[in-house]
Amino acid sequence: SKGTYEFYMLKEICEQPSVLRHLDQYYLDQNGDPKVDAKIINALSKADRLYIFAAGTSYHAGLIGKQLFEHLTKIPTEVGFASEAGYHFPMMSKHPFFIFLSQSGETADSRVVLQQAIKRGIPSLTLTNVPNSTLAREANYAMSLEAGPEIAVASTKAYTAQVAVQAIVAKALGEKIGIKDAADFELKKNFALAAEGIEQVISSQEKIERLAQKNIIPSRNAFYIGRGIDYPVALEAALKLKEVSYIQTEGFAAAELKHGTISLIEKGTPVIALINDSVTSDLMRGNIQEVIARGATVITIARKSLAKPADDIVLPEVNYYLSPLVSVVAAQLFAYYAAKDKGLDVDKPRNLAKSVTVE
Ligand code: F6R
Repeated sequence: SKGTYEFYMLKEICEQPSVLRHLDQYYLDQNGDPKVDAKIINALSKADRLYIFAAGTSYHAGLIGKQLFEHLTKIPTEVGFASEAGYHFPMMSKHPFFIFLSQSGETADSRVVLQQAIKRGIPSLTLTNVPNSTLAREANYAMSLEAGPEIAVASTKAYTAQVAVQAIVAKALGEKIGIKDAADFELKKNFALAAEGIEQVISSQEKIERLAQKNIIPSRNAFYIGRGIDYPVALEAALKLKEVSYIQTEGFAAAELKHGTISLIEKGTPVIALINDSVTSDLMRGNIQEVIARGATVITIARKSLAKPADDIVLPEVNYYLSPLVSVVAAQLFAYYAAKDKGLDVDKPRNLAKSVTVE
């Protein structure tokens, strides 16, 4: 039940700290070492390349997963839309391993790719929130996302669980194959920091709602921009906002805007900037000035160590690779309030179903 919440989407956003704490209990031991079935890690350790397939929000979680796997295992990792790979099979390395991300475990596009993998003898792991789902049953290996039932059509806590479980698998695999970055990666501490960080973001929901009312709802379009790990978060943030509020929103690698799309910026166009990457934060500030000069209304979401006094939302510090767990929540809340305050059915946006079982 929704309990005291007006919509499942808000309930599920607010459940994310407990999802992370549960994943800690479920998948990490006292020392913070992953407890993942040794068979899965053994199979993964034979791979020379990882291929992640998914759709929609799960695809966006896969883009974060790529960065986690490459940092923690040094195994090159590709991410593809299942809907494309099913009929235009990507070039394979000698020892590929397929990872499927799916909240429902029923997405038809992903099932087509899994059938291809089975036919070609490529080993596979499905991360899914529905343990007995088709993808979980048909893959060689399956792991549960443990997020609890997700009712709202727009995925929130399943995304954060997908990011977290990929981090767990990547650390386990990296440690198995002797990667120092994996041994050094403090999962337990950062899950705790992320859970607290999400709580802080949720506690600023009134400010987020005001910003949504003032700067986002009046516009027919909007942009999210980010660099580094913030780029895939910008894609997910944009999907969330457009699917529930019907405000056309695109996510951009921040510097790409000036290569064409900046022509769409007019007076009052909302541009929401994510700043979690220290390597590119000065460049982000420059990209923000470029859109301000064209009249954009900018909302900045920055991690504490990179924040300036005028930033709108300041995020607590979490390991860079896990910063999406926190930054995405601000975007989920912008989407939620934009839709709710427009009077829309937040949990059931038009034209959408919770699981997409047609290709
Ligand atoms: C967006 C959303 C969809 C799903 C996509 C894949 O909020 O929920 O984009 O992420 O349809 O679904 P699953 O993860 O069930 O395979």
